[in-house]
Amino acid sequence: MKILMVCLGNICRSPLAQGIIEQKIKEQIQLGNLFFKNWEVDSAGTSAFHVGELPDKRSIKVATENNIDISCQRSRQFKASDFKEFDIIYAMDKSNYNNITAIAKNDEDVKKVKIIMTELNTNIEKDVPDPYYGEFGFESVYKMLDEACTAIIEKH
Ligand code: 4NP
Repeated sequence: MKILMVCLGNICRSPLAQGIIEQKIKEQIQLGNLFFKNWEVDSAGTSAFHVGELPDKRSIKVATENNIDISCQRSRQFKASDFKEFDIIYAMDKSNYNNITAIAKNDEDVKKVKIIMTELNTNIEKDVPDPYYGEFGFESVYKMLDEACTAIIEKH
C-alpha cells in the first residue's frame, strides 16, 4: 500500500507525518508484523513555494526530539500522476483537500483523498493547523499527527 501525506509547503506538517508513520511501520516490522513491509510512504505540497528544500528546522527539531530523522526529505509539489501512484492521499487540512481534489480526474481519484484527522473520528473534519507562522506549535502538530498515524496503523 502506498500512502502520500500532503500539506501546503511540504516542509512543516507532511514531512513530520511521513517520518512518524515510517517510524511506526518500522516498529511493526520489528514486532514481526511482516504485512507492514509492503507499505510505502511519501509526502508532497500543493504549492511549489519550497520545492527542493529541507523540512523546516522546527519540524526537524521536534522529530529529532522524538528519535525520528526527517532531514533526508526534500520538498516536492503534488502532481496529478500521484493519484495513480498512491492508494491513500492524506490532506493535512480542508484547504489542502480542496487543492488536491481540484485536479482529480474522476471519482476514483477523489475517493483516495482523506483529511488525516478523520482517521481518529470520521465525523470530525479537523484540520492540522499550519504551524509555519508560529501561531500553533510544532509540538502540538507532532502530537496530533502521532495520534492520527497510530489510528492509520491500527485501521489498515
Ligand atoms: P506546511 O507549512 O504546509 O505544513 O509545510 C507551510 C510552509 C510554508 C508556507 C505555508 C505553510 N508558506 O507560505 O511558505
